[in-house]
Amino acid sequence: MTDRPRPLRILGIDTSCDDTGVGVVELAPDGRVTVLANRVWSQAVHAQYGGVMPELASREHVERIDQIMGDALHEAGLSVSDIGAVAATSGPGLVGALLVGLMYGKGLAQALNVPFHAAHHLEGHIFAAASEAELRAPFLALVVSGGHTHLFDVPRGGEYVLVGATRDDAAGEAFDKVARLAGLGYPGGPAISEAATRGDPQAVPFKEPLKGQSGFDFSFSGLKTAALLAHRAGATPENLAASFQRAAVQTLVNTTVRAAQATGRSTVVVSGGVAANHALREAFAATGLHVVFPGRGLNTDNGAMIALAGAAAIQAGRPASALDGGATAYAPLANA
Ligand code: KG4
Ligand code: ZN
Repeated sequence: MTDRPRPLRILGIDTSCDDTGVGVVELAPDGRVTVLANRVWSQAVHAQYGGVMPELASREHVERIDQIMGDALHEAGLSVSDIGAVAATSGPGLVGALLVGLMYGKGLAQALNVPFHAAHHLEGHIFAAASEAELRAPFLALVVSGGHTHLFDVPRGGEYVLVGATRDDAAGEAFDKVARLAGLGYPGGPAISEAATRGDPQAVPFKEPLKGQSGFDFSFSGLKTAALLAHRAGATPENLAASFQRAAVQTLVNTTVRAAQATGRSTVVVSGGVAANHALREAFAATGLHVVFPGRGLNTDNGAMIALAGAAAIQAGRPASALDGGATAYAPLANA
């Protein structure tokens, strides 16, 4: 536990994909954390290619990171010398992109002579919810983003047991692909969510994927194919969006509830870009579980979540990271 007499300001950096994110959090002596700033530069350059171009992402991170850090410090009302620790994502992600934020963070920590913490991107997504409530293990964590659909059991702080994952597409990826085929634009999650408000969730009888399984996996590719067939058969974009969202939310919520029953956990953290979805939030709120979502602006990739993961590491007494550690494209979080 912490025994620092003064608040510690932690700067967090995430450059794992196509968002340049810098955030600042304050860790109070009593262990409470407050997000002071969260600035994200979302790279628009990739839209014309229909997907993220890794080399362009790296270059744009290099060009933007100084400005985004300045903006974050300004938003926090701090100067760089007020920063007492730095955290940056070391993986998983695009290696060239990760390296920009990682090297920047290490350089900053060295220049300021403060501790540096390498953070796992998924631990960042999970601790984004620490902006809303104190996260004390045990709990379940569902990370649903454009690249991940992972359900972890967290029996003790810093220990992650993977209890389920997608067998094919990630949840956010499915939202993006269905939005594209329905002509709803990009990013697909918000577009589906908006169109769904004008559609009938029962119009297309999509089945809940993997219903009846005894495990806790997810699958979205069958749903995506069914959406394509329904689109070809003339379903309106609004009905397609509402019906797809209904089935996607059902599988995420029902599988997580069964996992909570099987593990005996009563608290569930739901994070990642898809956690911004209103229908998902409403369905989870109706489960009776204690469900914690990240605060506004902290669902999709950002730097504040990395600062929050850094704060959790510092509070747990984890040692600072060595400055010669590298970036890793593939880095499983589960350690059991
Ligand atoms: O966490 P994130 O920014 O990036 C990854 O680490 O992948 O998540 C981005 C994903 C995209 O697939 C986007 O469509 C989805 O999150 N998303 C949503 C919503 N907002 C973003 N999906 C469903 N409903 C939303 N409101
Ligand atoms: Zn992410």
